[in-house]
Amino acid sequence: MKKIMLYSILIGLVGLTSCQEMEKKKAKQKTTWVDTEKDDHSYANVTQVRTSHLHLDLDVNFKNKTIYGVARHTLGKHSSDTIIFDIKHLQIQKITLGKKGSEIESEFVIGPWDKDSILGQPLIVGLSKSTQFVNIYYQTTSRTEAIDWLDPVQTEGKTHPFLYTQGQPILTRTWIPLQDSPLNRFTYSADVKVPNELMAVMSAENPIKKNDKGQYHFEMKQAIPSYLIALSVGNIDYAPISNKCGVYAEPELLSVAKNEFEDLPKMISVAEKLYGPYRWGKYDLLVLPYSFPYGGMENPCLTFVNPTIIAGDKSLVSVIAHELAHSWSGNLVTNRTWNDFWLNEGFTVYFEHRIMEEIADSEYVEMLALIELGELKNELKQFKKENRLADTHLKLDLKNRNPGDGLTQVAYIKGAFFLKTLEETVGREKMDVFLTNYFNTFAFQTISTEKFIEYLNNELLEPNQIKFNTDEWVYQPGIPKNCLKIQSKKFKHMQQLAKSFAAGDDIFEPKTTYEPIPKSWRKKRVTKQIQRSDYSTQEWIEFIRSLPMFMDPEKLALADAYMNFSRWGNAEVMTEWYLLSIRSDYKPAFLPMEQFITKVGRRKYLLPIYSELNKTPDHRLLALSIFETAKQNYHFISRNSVTELLGL
Ligand code: BES
Ligand code: ZN
Repeated sequence: MKKIMLYSILIGLVGLTSCQEMEKKKAKQKTTWVDTEKDDHSYANVTQVRTSHLHLDLDVNFKNKTIYGVARHTLGKHSSDTIIFDIKHLQIQKITLGKKGSEIESEFVIGPWDKDSILGQPLIVGLSKSTQFVNIYYQTTSRTEAIDWLDPVQTEGKTHPFLYTQGQPILTRTWIPLQDSPLNRFTYSADVKVPNELMAVMSAENPIKKNDKGQYHFEMKQAIPSYLIALSVGNIDYAPISNKCGVYAEPELLSVAKNEFEDLPKMISVAEKLYGPYRWGKYDLLVLPYSFPYGGMENPCLTFVNPTIIAGDKSLVSVIAHELAHSWSGNLVTNRTWNDFWLNEGFTVYFEHRIMEEIADSEYVEMLALIELGELKNELKQFKKENRLADTHLKLDLKNRNPGDGLTQVAYIKGAFFLKTLEETVGREKMDVFLTNYFNTFAFQTISTEKFIEYLNNELLEPNQIKFNTDEWVYQPGIPKNCLKIQSKKFKHMQQLAKSFAAGDDIFEPKTTYEPIPKSWRKKRVTKQIQRSDYSTQEWIEFIRSLPMFMDPEKLALADAYMNFSRWGNAEVMTEWYLLSIRSDYKPAFLPMEQFITKVGRRKYLLPIYSELNKTPDHRLLALSIFETAKQNYHFISRNSVTELLGL
């Protein structure tokens, strides 16, 4: 076996160069950009031969934290003599050609790694024109990046292990050998074997009950890009919210989750009214353990969410609106390559805000947008300092870089403000017609930034004789001058409040006033004190952000004594508070902060907190010691980001 492998690797190296050259030649011959634009983040030769259906046979083994799998690729019509898959940290056992049951073992070649070990390796298999089925027998390894294997203590219930995968942007290749590029879409099915007492769910049609054999079958009948394949296994129960949607979670979290997300049916109908029917059957949520590196991930039919968005008062459900919106922007119309990532996220933030206008109101959305704009501006400053101006364009060039580098506020917030500004220019009515047509025209396709601009010009701007600085927004750094201006009265008030607190006014202390009693000459004594419930989560965030960069720790102690910011409960508010506390060296917040970043693995909170800690030698030592124990609780993505941030 070993000999064959070595031998094949040798031919492979030769084979690889010749087949890359062939690709280049073919690419040159074609004239339209649509076919020649290459995905810099995949080895797959999808323009020559592609998977049209993938069937997975998976055996999930928690004892040795390994998935044993067969990836059965059905190929579309082709005339190619090789197919190239992406793999990273996978162990390939054998490859066969032919229908299940009448398979013939085939040789294969694993090519060299890319220089920076971002992409992984090409897996090359010879084909004849009649080859329709390629079956890859493989297993995951301890270096597989997509999968988070959790021990029972890391779960809510503490009794069963748990697993989930995260595919976007290019991690699917670390748990399934496939053509890992959004350029290709395919349907998939799966047979998954798990321990009897656990349930498996996927980004597909899902079971609503455990079965006692631990065997689950899945079908995703709509063609999706590879980054949307997802699996989770654990002690998971289901609670329906309506016949169209519901929540999966560990039993301990199920009822709070169901309450928090009870507006889901309304969100779906708002979204459908805006841009047309939801095309994926059911829309369910899966509440994962706290280690999940994101707030939410739009896996089709089954959005994955971090439990931190269950705030108890529905104040963070805009994350759900966001993931739901991806059922149109992203999952239905998909970014062509990771350089076009803003087409996924910018559109989705815009859409999310439109949904939230109906679920909450426009004041809420103004606050959301202002909070986000603040984050974008901070990031732009940082990028300027680091001489990363090209990273502030909407269209990116991530060649030879990790596509994760594109995951910035630029794609999300600059992208959303591009659309908001466009809406302001053309009017909401025209904007809505345009977007509905856009989703229908490109449904189940991928789209590049250039194609989008062409479509925008042809369908919206030229017919209405409207001039818009699209190119400046897309290909130039920073925020263009015509960017929509947003104001919020509520935020002005919080800024005032912060100002008086910073100036020494103890705004939290109970205050006695005498108020007139109607129809009487007397006055009544009223004692008032600021309550948490006087303001929304977003207002409290603005309050903390409006305080000076460095505060007297004694003042923070005072605020904490009345309001308990350090253990507020809401992850967004606590993160703001911890950042201020670190800058101000307010030590009483450090223990709750440590507990927070040890339990929660969401990058959005970890990165700012660790990076604030990393700014002074003392705090850096604290960061290192917290990370040493906390890292085992993080998914690879967060562990890796923090490792880089701390320069380890
Ligand atoms: N698709 C993203 C998460 C993602 C992007 C993962 C790129 C990996 C690579 C998801 O929809 C998202 O944007 N999540 C945000 C939600 C927020 C913007 C409302 C998050 O997790 O914070
Ligand atoms: Zn998103």
